[in-house]
Amino acid sequence: MSLEIDVLTIFPELVRVPLSESIMGRASDKGHVTTRVHDLREWTTDNHKKVDDEPYGGGPGMVMKPEPFFAAVNDLKKQNTTVVLMTPQGKKYNQKVAESYAESSSHLIILCGHYEGVDHRVVKYLVDEEISIGDYVLTNGAIAAVVFIDSIARLIPGVLGDGRSNVEESFSVYDGILEAPSYTRPAEFNDMKVPEVLMSGNHKKILDWKYEAAQQRTKENRPDLLS
Ligand code: ADE
Repeated sequence: MSLEIDVLTIFPELVRVPLSESIMGRASDKGHVTTRVHDLREWTTDNHKKVDDEPYGGGPGMVMKPEPFFAAVNDLKKQNTTVVLMTPQGKKYNQKVAESYAESSSHLIILCGHYEGVDHRVVKYLVDEEISIGDYVLTNGAIAAVVFIDSIARLIPGVLGDGRSNVEESFSVYDGILEAPSYTRPAEFNDMKVPEVLMSGNHKKILDWKYEAAQQRTKENRPDLLS
């Protein structure tokens, strides 16, 4: 299984650099995920490579023009392509949505917005799904695209070296609550001790402790997950 992704942005380096490092860099070297990052300005036809204009009806800021998006998607689209727009106006992203993309997608085209938004004809006629990575506004969608791509790619078999790491974690192992805290050596550091039970070798006791600790952490940090 592999995933192909084309990203359209006016800040290609903002996407390329983070995806070339660490696990994502290796995922791409091994061919599990192929990401091509394009400068949207390549699909402009005027001398100034203009990608935005003033909003009809007035208002602050600039709106991204439709023509470059339509031309680019037309060039990059394949048979099974899903076109996604990163926007704070989108459907709220979470682990479940990431899983559904990892399971069902073979080719994604990701459009990154900037300025006050994107001409709505792009949303209406070109985009399959609008995605927001959270209830806050970023300066541009390229940053959101990196989050989106990383979270999907790590679910592709083979991307994480240890096959367990994407199963035994928050939002999975304890049915939608947070993970238990983890510890490593040294067992004692500046009078701060690792809980005894974790070093006991008793797997049943360790699991019980982890379950309780996960409940407690969720109660403190994310009570909404328990209701
Ligand atoms: N662009 C700006 N803010 C965003 C967000 N929260 N999610 C996706 N794209 C965005």
